[in-house]
Amino acid sequence: MKQIHDIEIEKLFHDLAHKEWACSAKVFPLEFCHHLAEKALDLQREGLFRAAAIGRGASKSHNPSIRGDVTLWIEEESASLLLIEWREQLELMRTLLNQSFYLGLKSFETHFAIYPPQAEYQKHIDNHRGSNARAITFILYLNDHWKKGDGGELSLFDPRDQKTLMTQIEPHLGTFVLFRSEVFPHQVEKNFQQRLSLTGWFRTDSQ
Ligand code: OGA
Ligand code: NI
Repeated sequence: MKQIHDIEIEKLFHDLAHKEWACSAKVFPLEFCHHLAEKALDLQREGLFRAAAIGRGASKSHNPSIRGDVTLWIEEESASLLLIEWREQLELMRTLLNQSFYLGLKSFETHFAIYPPQAEYQKHIDNHRGSNARAITFILYLNDHWKKGDGGELSLFDPRDQKTLMTQIEPHLGTFVLFRSEVFPHQVEKNFQQRLSLTGWFRTDSQ
């Protein structure tokens, strides 16, 4: 089944071309997002999430005061039809991004993330220029009933001045964000309710 909304994708890509980031609440149907949120909670109940790491290779470590979420990678051989569907949507988006931007995106990786109350993810860049193959970051938020004061906003900072806040995005169910991974310093503000999302990266290598 095709879930992506074509006209919304055009708008999203238009913004991405002009601003290097884009956000829309209309790319994926809310019902699909609801199912994904339920899936995250089922998998959480099964105890499958693990503390998220920072850094790579030898410098890989865990530090909940810098990054407090737990994650679960969604692999190609996932047993769940819903998660296969999520990967198919991302594969379609990868193709569309390549057609529009000639980015040479060869693959993607994606995980669920759960931020427990009081968790945050301090300011970072997902990919330092030349250091690895993450080209575009994407996030789909899965929080029904999110309200002001719950925290957990995604803050994007000005690439020319890391101290200047550029925009904040609230993690409402169905809100989808794309940004160039090597461009934007960003952080997840401390949240006061459990915060669910699907995060990932389109990559220029085949992993
Ligand atoms: C990340 C990240 C942002 C968010 O996982 O690298 O920055 O809003 N996530 O969840
Ligand atoms: Ni990040």
